[in-house]
Amino acid sequence: MNKNFYITTPIYYPSAKPHMGHAYSSIVADFFARLKRIQGHKVFFLTGTDEHGQKIQRAAEKSNKDPLEFCNEISKTFRDLSSLLNLSNDDFIRTTEKRHSLAVTNLWKILEKKEEIYLSKYSGWYSVSDEAFYNEDEIEDSDGKKISKSSGSQVEWVEEESFFFKLSKWQEPLLKFYSENPKFILPESRKNEVISFVKSGLKDLSVSRKSFTWGIKVPSKKDHVIYVWLDALTNYLSALNYPNETDKLFQDFWPANIHFIGKDILRFHAVYWPAFLLAAGIKPPQRVYGHGWILSGDEKMSKSKGNILDPIEIIDTYGLDALRYYLLKEVSFGNDGNISKDKLENCINSDLANNYGNLCQRVILFCEKNIGLKIPEKYKLTNDDLSILNDFKENEENIIKQINDQNINYYVEYVVNQLFKANKYFNDQAPWTKKEDILRLNTIVFVSLELIRKISILLYPIIPNTSLKVLNIFSMKEKDIKFDTIKDNEYLKDKKEIIKLGILFTKIKK
Ligand code: MSP
Repeated sequence: MNKNFYITTPIYYPSAKPHMGHAYSSIVADFFARLKRIQGHKVFFLTGTDEHGQKIQRAAEKSNKDPLEFCNEISKTFRDLSSLLNLSNDDFIRTTEKRHSLAVTNLWKILEKKEEIYLSKYSGWYSVSDEAFYNEDEIEDSDGKKISKSSGSQVEWVEEESFFFKLSKWQEPLLKFYSENPKFILPESRKNEVISFVKSGLKDLSVSRKSFTWGIKVPSKKDHVIYVWLDALTNYLSALNYPNETDKLFQDFWPANIHFIGKDILRFHAVYWPAFLLAAGIKPPQRVYGHGWILSGDEKMSKSKGNILDPIEIIDTYGLDALRYYLLKEVSFGNDGNISKDKLENCINSDLANNYGNLCQRVILFCEKNIGLKIPEKYKLTNDDLSILNDFKENEENIIKQINDQNINYYVEYVVNQLFKANKYFNDQAPWTKKEDILRLNTIVFVSLELIRKISILLYPIIPNTSLKVLNIFSMKEKDIKFDTIKDNEYLKDKKEIIKLGILFTKIKK
């Protein structure tokens, strides 16, 4: 099995401050990056900012700033958010970097050389907000304006000389590619949308613009800039030092294992991107997962709607792990989800404070009071003990199978169930009634500590900070976290002591 794993977030437009939707894409990708790492994979996890195009140029003009100066400022807020979200990314790419323009220019030259690109004239609708071209049947009238039916953003008429990519030629090869790689697009419902879009007929795609300058120049015709999506998608290659295909990063990590994106940008990733790559003779990525939107009320968050939930504010009030836990547990992955302060508070109280926090506090306090923060040396596991401990071993294969299909909810549900079971075990076994039977008391403490360890390992990709705090009681550091060890029932056997643990989550008064 190839142990290298390349995982990406979309690169974000630094046209305005980051919001919860951006945080969501990143948290999801980070969850998988961490999970893969503890499974023993060598992971390369990439995020960054998408800085060219008319949308950014206009936003910069509106702020009376030079586009690069404007991007420098806002890109930094995305980089800061990555740290605030505790993302474990290995790189942060900006499309205004030299390494990136080299890669884009090279890809363009290959496409031109292979006669996949030709010069003509574009006349049609364009949405600057989506940086997308729309057909007549994809737009509608609204309040005297023309808008895109899918995104609701305003479109404008564009007529200019443009280079075209021969997308129509790739219709059949793409359909063949989808059928040979049935999990290339997930979730399934999105895959069907894409396939029917491709089947309905692909037109050649305009891949350069002439009416503005903020972008990477077409090498053979400098008055054209390369279409921002061809530019942006190439970030996934440029971060691996493409065009140097013999570079170790490229060799180790291309093709990407998974691009996480929102459903609104699926067409770019699942149609245009593999077509560009196939045309250039480069392997397409293995999977594109189009997640749903985080809604504020019933609407997508957007600057124009003024309904943006600020992740920084939420983290300030409730803490990062609470937000990460909420988004990963409460949103049915692949579908739209909702976030409100009320729901977040309920989730903190019931799952994090009452369930996980409570288990850790009770067991450790009991251990401290009765055996002085020692890990019992002598214990005797009964069938009941083994049955609760073995659950992890018995389910490991299935958990991995589910997670390989990005079934986050299955994973989180499994962990929550184990938490309930562990709390119930401690209650039912009632070690405080076993003070006369020290071997049994020791055994219950040992099993409970093992359960805390196993569960904390599973929680690590979801709430890394808290999980590490708990694992630290066993003197475990990040590098010691191995998914595999959830199968080990006596991992703590040779460890002698535990370190005291502070409060993990404070219950919110409602
Ligand atoms: N720059 C492009 C992506 C280029 S990738 C080669 C872009 N940027 S974006 O900043 O507009 O959006 C980035 C990601 O955030 C997209 O995946 C988008 O779906 C996601 N979200 C933006 N708003 C969202 C929500 N309200 N909810 C969830 N995700 C949404 O598109």
